[in-house]
Amino acid sequence: MPIRTDPDRRLVALDTDATTYAFAVDPAGLLRHLYWGPRLDRLADVEAPALWEVSTNDSVAEITHEEYPIHGGLRFKETALAVRFEDGSREARLVVTGIAVDAEAQEVVVALLDAPRGLTVQVHYRVLPGLDLIERWAVVRNEPSEAGREAGVIAVTAAASAQFHVPRAGLTLRNVFGHWGAEQQPFTQQVGPAALVLESRRGISSHHHNPYVVLDADASEDAGEVWCAALAWSGNFRATVAQTPYGDTLVQLGLNPWDAEVTLAPGESLTTPRVVAGYTAQGLTGISHHLHAYGHGLLDPRPRPVLYNSWEATGFEVDLEGQLALAQRAAGIGVELFVMDDGWFGRRSSIDDGLGDWWVDPGAFPDGLGPLIAQVHELGMDFGLWVEPEMVNPASDLYAKHPDWIYRDQVHDPDTARGQYVLDLTRPEVQEHLFAVLDLLLRENDIAYLKWDANRPMSAVGAHRDAHRAHIEALYTLVTRLKGTHPGVMIEACASGGGRIDLGALGVFDDVWTSDNTDAADRLVMQRAYSLIYPAKAMRAWITESPNFLSQRSIPLDFRARSAMMGTLGVGTDLMRADDAELKALAAHIATYKRLRPTIQDGRVYRLDNETGNDYQFTGYVREDRGQALLFAFLQASRVGHRKPTVRLRGLDPAATYRYAVNGVPHEHSGAYLMGHGVPLWLMGDYDSALVEFDRT
Ligand code: GLA
Repeated sequence: MPIRTDPDRRLVALDTDATTYAFAVDPAGLLRHLYWGPRLDRLADVEAPALWEVSTNDSVAEITHEEYPIHGGLRFKETALAVRFEDGSREARLVVTGIAVDAEAQEVVVALLDAPRGLTVQVHYRVLPGLDLIERWAVVRNEPSEAGREAGVIAVTAAASAQFHVPRAGLTLRNVFGHWGAEQQPFTQQVGPAALVLESRRGISSHHHNPYVVLDADASEDAGEVWCAALAWSGNFRATVAQTPYGDTLVQLGLNPWDAEVTLAPGESLTTPRVVAGYTAQGLTGISHHLHAYGHGLLDPRPRPVLYNSWEATGFEVDLEGQLALAQRAAGIGVELFVMDDGWFGRRSSIDDGLGDWWVDPGAFPDGLGPLIAQVHELGMDFGLWVEPEMVNPASDLYAKHPDWIYRDQVHDPDTARGQYVLDLTRPEVQEHLFAVLDLLLRENDIAYLKWDANRPMSAVGAHRDAHRAHIEALYTLVTRLKGTHPGVMIEACASGGGRIDLGALGVFDDVWTSDNTDAADRLVMQRAYSLIYPAKAMRAWITESPNFLSQRSIPLDFRARSAMMGTLGVGTDLMRADDAELKALAAHIATYKRLRPTIQDGRVYRLDNETGNDYQFTGYVREDRGQALLFAFLQASRVGHRKPTVRLRGLDPAATYRYAVNGVPHEHSGAYLMGHGVPLWLMGDYDSALVEFDRT
C-alpha cells in the first residue's frame, strides 16, 4: 500500500518503491511537512519536531514547515497561497478539516478551511510508486456556505501548486537559461541565504528558464541525493528556492503571481497545475530516469516518424512545385513524414502578414493542398503542416474583421512582436473560431501532423487579470479537443524554437521543437540539458546544412546526423542543393536511425562521463528488452595531449555478453567489463563522431 496513515497522530506517509514523503496535522490544525527522503518502513520514526519561538521575531508559524501555507498571521516567508477578500483584507487562516484517502487512485486529499471567510483549499497528493514520484496540486474554492455569511468574491493573488521542504542546506540548484537560438543552456547555482527565483512572464514556459527545480548535494550522474520538482505547465510559472535560517531549503513552484489574479465568485474554484516531485539517492541519472518514465506516461506511445521540414530550405517561398520537388527527394532518402512549414496560407509572404487566415494561398497552391498531399502519399509519406493558431497579423482578414479579438488595453496601442498580436484565447468565440478553422483544415486535408507554433510573448493584457493562466487552459482545451476530433493526428509544440518545453506540453502535444538553432554542436549542449528532465522521444532534432545558417559553423554530415539522431530525427537540409553523395549519406543515416529507433525513443538515456579532459560528449541509450545499447560519441576539437578515450558504459547487464564493432573491428565483452573498464574509441580531428551498437549475444 503506497499510502500509510496513523490516525492517532493524523499522519500520512506516501511511499514509493524507494522513497517516503510524510506530513501530519498538528494540534493547531496546521498541515506540517515531516519527512522527504529514502523509504522508511518504521512510521514511528517520523516525528513532528517540537516547535518553540526562537525569539519574538521567529514565530511558530514562521518556522513551521507547512505544506500549503496561506498569507496571514505571523508568516513572513514565502506562502503558497494569497487571497484578497471583498472587504479588502488579505488576512487568512487555514485549518485542516479532514483527510481523505483514495487507496485505489493512490490519492490523498487534505481539506483546509478558513471558516469565517468560507475559503476552502484541497491539497492533493498522488503517489506513483514505481516511478518514485508524487504529484501535488491544489484546489482553492470560495464556499460562502461554510462561513454562513453573505456571498462575496475572493481574489486569488497567488496560488502555487505546492511548497516543499528539502531537509538540507547548502544545496546546488540546476536549471537552464537562454533565449531564442540558445535554449536549454544548463547552469548550476549554489543555494544560499538569499532566495533564488526562476520564472517566466511571457505566456509560454519560455527559452529563459524552465519550470523545474533540481537540487542536489554534490551528486554525480550515478550517485548522490537529488530532489526534484517539475511543473506540468506551458505558461507563466515561478519557482522560488530559499535556504531558510533554520538549516533546510524551501521550494515553491507553481503559477506565476506576476500580473495575475483569479477572481472566484461564490461556488467557484481554481485548480492549480500539477507538480511532480521526487527524491533519489541514485544521482542525476536516477532522477532523470524517473522523470523520463513520467514523461513517457504522458506521451502517445506510437513511434515518432522521421520527418522532413521545409523551413530552412524554402522559408516563406513555398509553392506546389518547390514542395513537390523537396518531397520527392525526401522520400528518396527514407523520410516518413513531409512537413510543410510557414508560408502556405493567406497572403503570407513574410512575418508581417497572413497569420489568422488559415486558408490555402491560391497563388502558391491553385487547387488547394490536395495535389501536394496526394503526391506526398504516393511517395509513401504522411503529410504535416505548420500552423500558428494563437496569433494574428494586423495585415490579415481575421484582424480586419475582429480587431477586438486580441489581448489589448483599451487606451494604449497594442505592441506587435514579430509583426503579430496574440489572440485572446480566453474568449469563447475565439476558441470556437480556431477550433472551426483547424477542424476544417484537418477534415478537408489528410494531415497526419501539425507543427503548432507561437512566435511571440503575451503582453499588455489590459484589464484581463487572469489572462496568462486562462490562455494556457484554453490552449490545452483546444489542442485536446482537436486531437479528440481527429484521433491519430500528432502535434508538435513549438514556440519560436524551444519556448514550450515542459511537462504540460508533453501532456497534450506529441513532441517539442527543441530550438531553431540547428547547429549540431550547440545542440549537443541543449540536448544534454534537456535530458535532465525530458524524454528523448519528445525531442525533435533535424539534420541541417553546413555551414549552419545561424552559427555559420561547418560540421561534417556524420556528426550532424548523429547529433540529430539522439532524439526524434528530422531533416531540414535544402535537399535541392544536396548532391548524390550527400543524399546517399542521409539515406544511410536515416536507415540506421529507423533500425535503432526503438532503443533511442523508448530506451533509457545515460549521460556518460568524459574522463579525458578533452572535448568529448558521450551518451548511452539502453533498451534491456531488446538486448541493445548504443553509444553516441562526439569530439569537437582535437587538442594537444589528446588521447584515446575509454568510455565506461552504464545500464548494461553485467552478466551478459555484448557484440559490437569499433571502426569495423568486431569485439565481444561482458557488460561487467564494458561498465567497469570501458570501450576504447579512436576519435581524431575536429568534429569526429561515432555511433557504436552493442547487441547482447
Ligand atoms: C518559428 C519556428 C521555426 C519556423 C518559423 C516559421 O521561428 O521556431 O521553426 O517554423 O517560426 O515562421
